[in-house]
Amino acid sequence: MSDRELIQAALTARERSYSPYSGFMVGAALLSKSGKVYTGCNIENAAYTPTNCAERTAFFKAVSEGEHEFSAIAVAGWPRVGEAGYAFPCGVCRQVMMEFCDPNRFRILVAAGEEEYRVFTLDELLPEGFGPEDLT
Ligand code: THU
Repeated sequence: MSDRELIQAALTARERSYSPYSGFMVGAALLSKSGKVYTGCNIENAAYTPTNCAERTAFFKAVSEGEHEFSAIAVAGWPRVGEAGYAFPCGVCRQVMMEFCDPNRFRILVAAGEEEYRVFTLDELLPEGFGPEDLT
């Protein structure tokens, strides 16, 4: 699975964004170490707080299917179709990544388009993050 293919999957997932309140459409594609891709979109709610981000949708789908090990996620989000920009994962999503991913190895592809993207490790986006190992 190339970076480009993972970004394409995120852009396709973005088309299913349910975001009538913010109009901010986000798609994510999460690559498990077993090689499977789990996609997600943001799902908003009239009561606002139950809204789920695209990244967490992808993680929760994957974990509910038995996956616990991941190598990368592509994220694509922007308010208007046909326009593009960099939309970074929110703090809550970064914390969810921290639960399942090695911060020094897990790659986060923040995509503005199929060939326009920036790559970060989780450690770069969540330095000194609190994770499962801190409880042992
Ligand atoms: N959103 C995501 O899906 N991922 C993020 O990391 C940031 C924010 C969504 C939530 C909400 O539906 C909309 O973008 C505006 O905040």
